[in-house]
Amino acid sequence: MREIKSIREMRLFSQKAKSHGKKIGFVATMGALHEGHLSLVAEAKKRSDIVVVSIFVNPIQFGPSEDYHHYPRSLKKDKEQLKHFDPSVLFIPDAKEMFPDGFKTHVEVDALSKKMCGRSRPTHFRGVTTIVTKLFNIVSPDIAFFGAKDFQQQLIIKQMVKDLDLPVEIVAMPIVREFDGLAMSSRNAYLSAKERSSATILNKALSLAKLEIEKGERDLRKILFRMRSLIGSEPIVRIDYLLAVKPDTLEEVESLKGKVLLAVAAHVGKARLIDNLLVSV
Ligand code: PAF
Repeated sequence: MREIKSIREMRLFSQKAKSHGKKIGFVATMGALHEGHLSLVAEAKKRSDIVVVSIFVNPIQFGPSEDYHHYPRSLKKDKEQLKHFDPSVLFIPDAKEMFPDGFKTHVEVDALSKKMCGRSRPTHFRGVTTIVTKLFNIVSPDIAFFGAKDFQQQLIIKQMVKDLDLPVEIVAMPIVREFDGLAMSSRNAYLSAKERSSATILNKALSLAKLEIEKGERDLRKILFRMRSLIGSEPIVRIDYLLAVKPDTLEEVESLKGKVLLAVAAHVGKARLIDNLLVSV
């Protein structure tokens, strides 16, 4: 695994790989790697000749009162974990080189970025789409992998790639869960033992909805009410949103028909956690 820090070196590496006809797979991360990230790297290995993993805690996707400064950073451990997958390159750009003084340009996907997480994190997705565009421009991947836990993020990135004719295929990979159903997230590291156990209520609520739908329940209001009540049984879990939306537009739905995404975001202690489930009715 070659470590690259400069934009120029990363670009030269990719140009050379491409000139030899190699297919570049890319996994963008903010580090604090867990099995969810590693599943993306494993898939990238299967589907490309060269795998590039980036670690960059992107300052512009955090709001002013969010956790940029406290976001878990564990580069040494991340490198140890990545060694088992042996990607070709670990790209660790420098914040000053990525965002030099005078940086002024942003990439923003309308509408989709304002829904769901965008309501309480109004500048988050433009930070994500800006950094992902920059990373795509530097790494030049043919295929890039994102986790479905961040359902809204992968949808926005797919829209951006389509709108801007970026020559990269976007692949969304299934959510990876802990033994008790909690969706893997770097922010789980913020949770105390008690919070960690209470946080499993989010997946339990999604599983309850799935079960009810499988049993024939079609009243969406009843399902959302029961999910809300179940989450309410854990008083330290504060719901930000609990929604049923169309998976392609993120518009809220009134009834269960076709594919519906059930999505939840909640604060547990210092962590803001998200989870979702796609159901087909
Ligand atoms: O999902 C993440 O970890 C980040 O939002 C990403 C895609 C690496 C951009 O900073």
